[in-house]
Amino acid sequence: MLVEEENLNKPKLDEGDMDVRHIRDDFPLLRNESVVYLDSACQSLKPESVLKAMDQYNREFPACGGRSVHRLANRVSMEVDMAREKIAQLIGSPSPDSIVFTKNCTEAINTVARGLGLSDSDTVVTTDIEHNSNHIPWLRLAQNGVKRRIVATDNGILDIEGLQEAMSSDVRLVSMVHTSNVTGTTLPAKEVVEIAHEYGALVMLDGAQYAGHAPLDLERLDVDFYTVSIQKTLGPTGLGVLYGKEELLKNLEPLSVGGGTVGLAEYNSVELLPPPERFEGGLLNYAAIIGAGAAADYLMDLGVENIEKHELMLQKRLQKRIEGLEELSVVGPAEAELRGGITSFNIKGLGSHDVAMILDEMGGILLRSGMHCCHPWFRLHGIPGCARASLHLYNNERDIDRFADALEELVSTFSR
Ligand code: ALA
Repeated sequence: MLVEEENLNKPKLDEGDMDVRHIRDDFPLLRNESVVYLDSACQSLKPESVLKAMDQYNREFPACGGRSVHRLANRVSMEVDMAREKIAQLIGSPSPDSIVFTKNCTEAINTVARGLGLSDSDTVVTTDIEHNSNHIPWLRLAQNGVKRRIVATDNGILDIEGLQEAMSSDVRLVSMVHTSNVTGTTLPAKEVVEIAHEYGALVMLDGAQYAGHAPLDLERLDVDFYTVSIQKTLGPTGLGVLYGKEELLKNLEPLSVGGGTVGLAEYNSVELLPPPERFEGGLLNYAAIIGAGAAADYLMDLGVENIEKHELMLQKRLQKRIEGLEELSVVGPAEAELRGGITSFNIKGLGSHDVAMILDEMGGILLRSGMHCCHPWFRLHGIPGCARASLHLYNNERDIDRFADALEELVSTFSR
């Protein structure tokens, strides 16, 4: 089924609430109800408006931005600027110049890790439940003498006293996951920023699982760096965002330099452009950037606060269904409202990959399994992995019921 042209651009809203029945029509994969997509923490689905924006770039103005001056190139430059402004608006950045396009969230974090010029007199503070993207960069720097302190979490909930204890004047950066991709827990960002700033430390939050699921106001939060995975905010793959306060970006060394990053280069000298261009070397993924702008529009039209409410409603429904399943143990807090849109779990007697494969076979239930790139945390707790169901705005009550029915059947058939 194709969506009417005039309906492509705006999600449909009933008064103050999300009309998921109509929203699902915007997502091609969901139109025939053949699958229950519960893997949005890995990759969200894309609405027609995003697909159309990318297609339009490829068909109508498939040129380079920021270089040539012909009409197609000018359109690319203009559309990239517009996308940057929309993303700034989505995450509450005071300026579009604070928005740097990267390959993904991982590259955004690496840009900060490599760009701050950390030395053996500096300390970086993280949590024990970081995704490898916010763990390996610091591990690599530790090999060069940069010190690390790892604050414990309890079922993913940050120990604020532990953070206080970890702080001292040599902490240059507190770099933490905003919402855990395993437990779904969200840290108290404002409190973390305030504590870190008291010690003169900078703060970076990995917002891969938060952005697009709940309202963000980075200016109010006063966070120094923030990273976004566009493929998890209804946008295209292969694109991430690094937000940085403008004065900090000016002093951050780019990860890679080349065409597009310089004002003028001589054989022996170069003048870098101001941020964000100095970080965006080489030809960019224009289709993805333009698609990201359309995704930001879609989320803002819907109202991110409505998405948060909707996911909570579904979480509570799921919670009621799984509470009675003795063979199922949640990995993370027992309270649905602390898990955002994520429910990680294990089934007695089954490996997590078995659970994921059986659920797919049984009912087209698609979710992720394994250690979710959080190896140290799983090793610390002696858990070999878990299955993870993750929601987004397009999931509905029927998805939850199909998932819960399949879980019941799986438990009664396979669990020992
Ligand atoms: N970080 C993504 C996930 O948790 C890939 O699935």
